[in-house]
Amino acid sequence: MRIMVIGGGGREYGVTKRLSMDERVDSIYVLPGNGGMEEFAECVDIKATDMEAVCEFAGSHSIDFVVVTPDDPLAMGMADRLRAMGIPCFGPSKAAARIESSKIFSKNLMMKYNIPTAKAVSMTSLESALEYVRNNELPMVIKADGLAVGKGVFICRTRDEAEQAVRELMENKVFGASGSRILIEEFLEGVEVTVLSFTDGKTIIPMVSSMDHKTIGEGGTGANTGGMGVIAPNPFYTEAVANECMNHIFLPTIRAMEAEGCPFKGCLYFGLMITENGPKVIEYNSRFGDPEAQTVIPLLETSLLDAMMATEYGTLYKTPVVFSPKAAANIVIASGGYPGKYQKGLPISIEKTDSDTEIVHAGTKRTSDGYVTAGGRVLNVVTVADTLEKAVAKAYEQTKKVSFEGMYMRHDIGKTALDFIKKQ
Ligand code: AMP
Ligand code: GLY
Repeated sequence: MRIMVIGGGGREYGVTKRLSMDERVDSIYVLPGNGGMEEFAECVDIKATDMEAVCEFAGSHSIDFVVVTPDDPLAMGMADRLRAMGIPCFGPSKAAARIESSKIFSKNLMMKYNIPTAKAVSMTSLESALEYVRNNELPMVIKADGLAVGKGVFICRTRDEAEQAVRELMENKVFGASGSRILIEEFLEGVEVTVLSFTDGKTIIPMVSSMDHKTIGEGGTGANTGGMGVIAPNPFYTEAVANECMNHIFLPTIRAMEAEGCPFKGCLYFGLMITENGPKVIEYNSRFGDPEAQTVIPLLETSLLDAMMATEYGTLYKTPVVFSPKAAANIVIASGGYPGKYQKGLPISIEKTDSDTEIVHAGTKRTSDGYVTAGGRVLNVVTVADTLEKAVAKAYEQTKKVSFEGMYMRHDIGKTALDFIKKQ
C-alpha cells in the first residue's frame, strides 16, 4: 500500500512511525513531516494546508490511503476533496469537523442532545458580550468560536480579565474571524481526562485514557501550551466513569452527529472534566491530540492501519482494537521561551535510548551536521513500562539522552496522577 500522512509534528511522527512498521505498507509519504521522520518515511515539502498541492500529490503518486491528522486541513474540507477523487481517508468531512472548528456548533449539539457540558451562551456583538461579563458570575471561561491554534480560551477570574478577553477577541481580533463569535461559559472544577476514540460514525471504540499537562509552568501555572507532557492511562478515569462516558457522552455524540446529517469518521477526541456531578465535555477535537497520540499509540497492541481503515469503510464493529495494560509517559522537551518567542536552528544532541523509550521528533530539522531545533515543542521522550510510576521515572531518566541550548521541560508530569494512585 501507498500511504500519505498530512502534518509534521510529534503526533504525526507517532502515527507515521507506527504505520511504517506495517508490512502491508510499501511507501509512506509525510507532508511536510519533520527532520526525525526522514528515518522511516519520505518527507515532502508541501504544507498541510496547501489543499491543491496535497491533492495533486495524492493523485499523481497513486496513493491508496490518506491520514489527515491536523485540525486546519480537516476544517478546510481536505478529506472531502480526497474522497471526491476516489482516495479513501482517515479523518472527518468538513461538516463533521465543525465539532472542533466551531465551538458554537459543538455547544449547540451538546445542548440539543443533552450531552453533559458547561452551561454557555454565545455572543455575536461586542456590546452584548461586555454587558454579559459585567453582570454574571465569576470565574467564567471565554472562548473564540473558531480555531485559534489552541490559544482561544481565556479562564477569567476577575471582571477586568473577562472584559479584556472579550475585547481581545471581538475588538482587537487577535484570532481574526475566529473571534467574531464567542462563547462564554461556566467554569468547571475537577480533573481533566482526554479520551481519543476511533469511530466510523456508528461504532465508537475509545482508546486508553490519558492526561495532558497544558500549562508551561509546574503545578498548572503559567501560559497554556499545546501540551507539555502526557501520562496514560489516566487513573481518575475509572471503569465507572468510563461507563458513564460511553452511555452519556460517546454514543450520544456520534448518534447526534449522524442525526444532524454529518456522521463523524476518524478520531474523535473528548476533552473531559470529571466534576462532582459526573463527567462533562470541555471540548471535542476532530483529530488525534498532540502529544496524546504519540503517548497512546505505543500502547495499541492491534493494527493502527486496520483501525484507521475501518473508520472509513464502516467496519469498526468487526475490527479488533486492543490496548496493552501497561502505562506510558511522555515528557515534552521545548525550546527556551516557548510558548512565547524562541530561537530556532540550535544543534540537538541525541544519544541512543533504552528499548522501552522512543525519542519522538516534534519540531526538528535535519541538516548535514545533524538535527537542529525547528519549533516550540522540539522532542518528546516517550517510555512504556509496567506501571505508571516506572514509566514516568524512566522517561525522566531518559531525558538526559537529549540536549540543546536552552531546552525546557516540566518536572511534574504525572505527579497529580501518581499522588492519586498512592492515596488509593
Ligand atoms: P480547550 O481549548 O477548549 O481545550 O480549553 C483549554 C483549556 O482550558 C482546557 O484544557 C481546560 O483546562 C480549560 N477550560 C476550558 N473550558 C473550561 C471550563 N468550562 N471550565 C474550566 N476549565 C476550562
Ligand atoms: N493536546 C491537546 C490537543 O491536541 O488539542
